[in-house]
Amino acid sequence: MDEIRTIIYFSRHLQEIFWFLLRAEALFYMILQLENILTPEILQTINHQLEEAKFIDGKKTAGWHAVKVKNNEQLSNQFSEIRNLEKIIYQALNENIVFQMATIPKKIHSLRFSRYSQGMGYGSHVDDALMKEGRTDISFTIFLNSPQEYEGGELILEEVNEERSFKLSTGTIIFYPSYSLHRVETVTKGVRKVVVGWIESWIRDVQKREILFDLDTVRRSIFHKQGKTAEFDLLSKSYSNLLRFFADS
Ligand SMILES: [Fe+2]
Repeated sequence: MDEIRTIIYFSRHLQEIFWFLLRAEALFYMILQLENILTPEILQTINHQLEEAKFIDGKKTAGWHAVKVKNNEQLSNQFSEIRNLEKIIYQALNENIVFQMATIPKKIHSLRFSRYSQGMGYGSHVDDALMKEGRTDISFTIFLNSPQEYEGGELILEEVNEERSFKLSTGTIIFYPSYSLHRVETVTKGVRKVVVGWIESWIRDVQKREILFDLDTVRRSIFHKQGKTAEFDLLSKSYSNLLRFFADS
């Protein structure tokens, strides 16, 4: 019975993993998107609670240089349900196998429920490397409302030769290396609602994380197709030893 459950579990997640492999360009620099990280029921609960909540000026949590370009609102720490909302997000991230494989989190931290009304945006900046709760290796944004509900508000990742624009569906997460310059375009109509946060990974180097993600994907695929074969065991041994070798102490 347990074996059957295991196979069903992996086959569900393997579909998501293969979806990534088909979008090979997304793997470069490990900028990844995962749809439905939050279920519609969870989104409804979160959005319902946020309607009642008090928001404060987002500048209060910006670093000394980002404060010059940050113009949004964030959920007040005084809000009675904030710990419960954070728990829901942490649980969703901890339960998602692809997210875990790709980020290898030591600590997921510093969640901020953010709101951008008309005229608000967040100019070009890089996130602080160190926050009170941990180091920032990976930044993420989870979209809490539909892109049809607002105009503007795209998340732009600025690379040396190009910019990538993301305005994603409700419940989708995007995560990317925290060393990237990025911005949020000004919202010209409606309200953009997101939750952002950071990951201190066991593997701080993005290239090493990518190697481990590829190997982990392949070993799970072998396990799914052929079971616990000698090839799986050897690959799994290499994965584990590489993880041990790469991981921060
Ligand atoms: Fe940022």
